Parts: sequence; C-alpha cells; structure tokens
Amino acid sequence: MISVKSPHEYIFISLDTPNLEWAIEITKELKGLIGGVKIGKEFFTALGPVGVARIKELGVPMFIDLKFHDIPNTVAGAVRSAIHLAPAILNVHAQGGRSMLMAARDAAAEESNKIGASAPLVLGVTVLTSIDNQDLKETGINDTALEQVKRLAILCQEAGLDGVVCSASEIDALRIICDRNFKLLTPGIRPIWATKDDQKRIVTPGEAIKRGADYLVIGRPIYDANDPVSAAKRIISEIDEVIN
Ligand code: C5P
Repeated sequence: MISVKSPHEYIFISLDTPNLEWAIEITKELKGLIGGVKIGKEFFTALGPVGVARIKELGVPMFIDLKFHDIPNTVAGAVRSAIHLAPAILNVHAQGGRSMLMAARDAAAEESNKIGASAPLVLGVTVLTSIDNQDLKETGINDTALEQVKRLAILCQEAGLDGVVCSASEIDALRIICDRNFKLLTPGIRPIWATKDDQKRIVTPGEAIKRGADYLVIGRPIYDANDPVSAAKRIISEIDEVIN
C-alpha cells in the first residue's frame, strides 16, 4: 500500500499536562517527527486559548480534543470559538445526536470560511473505551459497545462529519461499514517495546495502520521514553514498513 502521507504525519502526541513549559519543550523536541499534538481538557482548562496559541506558534498541527457535547446551538458556538484556535482536527461527542453533529459540522465550515482559514477535520467520539457493555446497559443501551460504536459511526458519517475517534479494536468493523475516506483516529497505541501503562486493549502502531487507522494518538510511549526522539523514530519506521 502506498500512502500519500509521510509516516510521521500519522502521529499525534498528547500533551496531557497543565505545564506549558514542558508542553513547549516536548513539542519543539519532536517537531518534524510527529503529525501534530493533541490538546485536551487538562491542558485547556489550565492554560486556555493563550496556552494553545503558544503551542500554535511552534508551527505544529493541533488536534483540539475538547469533545463538545451540548445542545446544537451551544456546540455550534463552541466550535466557532475553537476555529479561532486554528485546529487541524476537533471533536464532538457522537452521542449528542444528528442535529448537534450537523450544527458542529456547519459551524466549523462557516467560521473557517469567514476567517479565511482551512476547515479542520471534525470527528465524532463514539463510545469511550473506558465504557463497557455493563456501563452502556446502565444508561439504557442494551447493545454491545461495538454495535453502539458502529451505529454512532454511521450517524457521524450521515451527518457529514469527517470521521470518528475509535479504539483500534473497532477499526476492522468500521472499515467495512464506513467510506474509505472516513477518518479513523485511534488512541491506546503501544509499540511492542513500550510499557502498557494503564491501557488494556492495546495495539501496536504498525498493526493499527495496517487495520486502517488514519491517525494515532500516542502519549507516554514517546514522552516518557528515556529518549523521546528515538522512540518517535522507532514508531515512524514501524509505520513506514506498513505503508511503503
Ligand atoms: O499515554 P497514552 O499513549 O496512553 O495517551 C493516550 C491519549 O489518548 C491520552 O490523551 C488519553 O487521554 C487519550 N485517550 C485514550 N483512550 C481513549 C480515549 C482517549 O487513551 N479511549
């Protein structure tokens, strides 16, 4: 399989920290070896849009992982505000329903157009991997997590989203029912040589790409390694072997 992307472009490193200086240092160190950085609720709640702007200055694509979930009007407003942070990717909870997903998609396109920026990928979060079948049952959903993920992925696709965040173990099923250009972004990645940390259902970078992932979110295997640069390079060569 020949990919149009370079191997490093598949990798988004998560900046799960309230420490701006650390986030800047690790981003500088890994620039050129990653496709971008993921900024989530911990970073954003501590450091806000000003912190995001400091990362943006470093010239790396950003995935703004704030998982918006509210009424359509409120989510549209949040997405419009997020567009001003210039993300390459942002996300919303698929569970918010069709109208909310369409409102997010439209707000991203319209606000980007208004400010002359390129629109980010808008992804839906299906079922968090921390949720199991019992948790779903307690919230009134009797289907398995996989069935619910498939249902929500189809909903996201019908609502015009660009893709979903999913577990690597769900990629095979989603690649059958979703369009090939529907993006699948996957956390829970562990190279064979890294520790598992608190991740349970882990997949190696090469395996995730082989199954059809478009982006991998990777944190500790890179930034907790003795040498983050060589850890990133090892992951890049593993991806390279699969795509080239
Ligand atoms: O350090 P690690 O590679 O486990 O970090 C993975 C990142 O992906 C973290 O930001 C984590 O919150 C996020 N994530 C995850 N599993 C999910 C959803 C998100 O690990 N199911």
